[in-house]
Amino acid sequence: MNRPKWIRVALATLGFLAMGSLVAAEGVTVTISCGSVGKDQTFCKEGAEAWAKKTGNKVRVLSSPQSTSDRLALYQQQLAAGSSDVDVYMIDVIWPGVLGQFFEDLNPYIDPRVKEGFFPSLISANTVDGRLVGLPWFTDAGILYYRKDLLQKYGFSKPPTTWDELFQMAKTIQEGERKAGNQSFWGFVWQGASYEGLTVDALEWIYSYGGGTIVDTKGNITVNNPRAKAALEMARKWVGTISPPGVLSYMEEDARGVWQAGNAAFMRNWPYAYALGNSADSPIRGKFDVTVLPKASTPEGRHAAGLGGWQLAVSRFSKHKAAAVDLVLYLTGYQEQKRRAIEGSYLPTRPALYQDPDLLKAQPFMGRLYDVFVNAVPRPSAQTKKKYNQVSSAFWTAVHNAISGKVDAGMALRQLEAQLKRIKGAGW
Ligand code: GLC
Repeated sequence: MNRPKWIRVALATLGFLAMGSLVAAEGVTVTISCGSVGKDQTFCKEGAEAWAKKTGNKVRVLSSPQSTSDRLALYQQQLAAGSSDVDVYMIDVIWPGVLGQFFEDLNPYIDPRVKEGFFPSLISANTVDGRLVGLPWFTDAGILYYRKDLLQKYGFSKPPTTWDELFQMAKTIQEGERKAGNQSFWGFVWQGASYEGLTVDALEWIYSYGGGTIVDTKGNITVNNPRAKAALEMARKWVGTISPPGVLSYMEEDARGVWQAGNAAFMRNWPYAYALGNSADSPIRGKFDVTVLPKASTPEGRHAAGLGGWQLAVSRFSKHKAAAVDLVLYLTGYQEQKRRAIEGSYLPTRPALYQDPDLLKAQPFMGRLYDVFVNAVPRPSAQTKKKYNQVSSAFWTAVHNAISGKVDAGMALRQLEAQLKRIKGAGW
């Protein structure tokens, strides 16, 4: 699981090339590269095949690495080489600045009214220098999963609102469950591996302490501050107490694995884990709920959900641009987003869907947490533009050093600040 990054990227590239040789010979075949977290592949395939059937085209669905950081490396390779093998890319909400130059401007292809169906903030996140480089497919926000049955068993009437409460509850439940014989039980699982996911988790902690967003909206580097330090010290304390030491190599699916097996009281994850946790064969089916992540107990404390999400973009090198745009419109359309929300708990990017009675009935949490989702805190990708990945990678590395105890939090933040200044240079 912990192969060095270059090996992971190389394996992913090989897989990609192998699939590339299976191109169907007839008709217009549109190739889409989808994710591989949870049931990403299945949902993507079902949607794309429905489009193919409706339009008489064909689709080829490729997989990509689970880690968004590895995925970015793979896509950068393909796009920098001008490869026309992939027509439609699934891109992270933080990438339009980094990869936008490789994608078609969708504006000339679509009726301008199409854009009005989406959250304006997401359309603007996908607009780089006036070019619409992707259409929002699903949005994401970090949320707290908790076991209703265990909270009740240990006498807690509601989920925690502060991190201190979370710590106490996690500790009590963990001790109790272990005494009762489950040695594999942990209080709290999250994403602590050295990759983009840690950037989001740590941004949530820091923001919830009133410690800002690493780089503010004006482009100033703000991360070296006492509140950020306190946030990292808190997470450092979790490791080995309420969280397994192995959390330092967990990505989304590792956390979900522990959680869904019934071995954790709390989990920080994205909404996709909701539908999976309630699937027919899940041991925790019906036993959990979700709420906003806790805040710091200090006066500056505030609840924060990190903003994530995925867009569909058409490669500038595609040989089937019109068909590719049509596929993007279909997949990001109302009906397909509704299907994905109901069956896969992917958060829609269209405000109207949050009023849809069928959807609210199937996924009541989407209505209940609507305000949390629309107020989710973005990573500083808009302001750091093409340098975002360097910023994020410096940040997650510093955070990983601090929470693994390699470097003290204050020192990690001072070093990070110096490094970010070098990355910024004369400007972002
Ligand atoms: C989720 C989010 C994405 C984020 C990633 C980090 O996929 O939607 O925005 O970058 O997690 O692991």
